[in-house]
Amino acid sequence: MSYTIALDFEDGATRFIKCKDTESVVDAAYRQGINIPMDCREGACAACKCRVESGSYALGDYIDDALSADEAAQGYALACQMRPTSDCVVRIPADSSVCNTRQESYTANIREVRRLSDSTFSLVLQGEALRQLLFLPGQYANLQVPGDGAHHRAYSFSSMAPGGDTASFLIRNVPGGRMSGFLADRAQAGDPIALSGPFGSFYLRPIQRPVLMLAGGTGLAPFLAMLDKVVAAGGSPHPIHLIYGVNSDGDVVETERLEAFARLIPNFSFAVCVVDEDSRHARKGYVMQHIEPAHLNDGEVDIYLCGPPPMVEAVARHLREIDVKSASFHYEKFAASAA
Ligand code: FES
Repeated sequence: MSYTIALDFEDGATRFIKCKDTESVVDAAYRQGINIPMDCREGACAACKCRVESGSYALGDYIDDALSADEAAQGYALACQMRPTSDCVVRIPADSSVCNTRQESYTANIREVRRLSDSTFSLVLQGEALRQLLFLPGQYANLQVPGDGAHHRAYSFSSMAPGGDTASFLIRNVPGGRMSGFLADRAQAGDPIALSGPFGSFYLRPIQRPVLMLAGGTGLAPFLAMLDKVVAAGGSPHPIHLIYGVNSDGDVVETERLEAFARLIPNFSFAVCVVDEDSRHARKGYVMQHIEPAHLNDGEVDIYLCGPPPMVEAVARHLREIDVKSASFHYEKFAASAA
């Protein structure tokens, strides 16, 4: 029996390895060319200490000096001793570069470019190589801009179909933007695009309490992948509420998918809000104005926040001002880049 282990490095890179139930994570990683920092290999020095974000495992043999009972209770483990009993996500406290792990690169072809609104494109890539591209829902890839040297742009995956031959992204239409300019003017079905990844620590953790998702603009993309994952898992044991904010009515996209999620996930709900005073949407204003006490569940909530930097900073500041101490808080800012 073997399991898939996602090794999540400090620099944001993630690598996936296969680990047999009879081998340690360190041994499995070495077998696949990834040198996780370690020294004694006997559970004595703590050089390989890592944090297990999700999954089940046996801790193995070690001495208390290397791993205290408190640390074990908090999810820490020694990678040289840990043996998985399910798929796991493991945070390695080192850069991927020092672990001798290569950047994974892929080439795929454009299957479809759609203009969802004046401000947003949907890009779907297709290719056999993508079957090898594993990622956690919420992570992103770097896409090389075709015909533009080594320039690349980072985009979150907007759907989750592991093992499939497609990958989807939401791309903001930035005036003068390299990628959006390419999509608007030159992109043709079949054009090749190189991408690398996955990257990022913004991904859906196991759902152990209510979840509040806060999205700004194309910051909706990682949540779409997360919700795909929830559907694939057969639903959520706890309520999930998404608040999706944009500047104007013309920026609202993917509501059909959100409605489909609401049908497929019984305890999922969402609200769209629009900053523009003249919006036809019922909720006007900014995302934080539509966070209700029930969404915060007295702090027993996991909060995920993704959007442009001003939005993320404003929401984070608001949560601090109203003294929200959530069980966990994960955020990702993306900055649009012009040429
Ligand atoms: Fe020493 Fe794992 S390498 S405890």
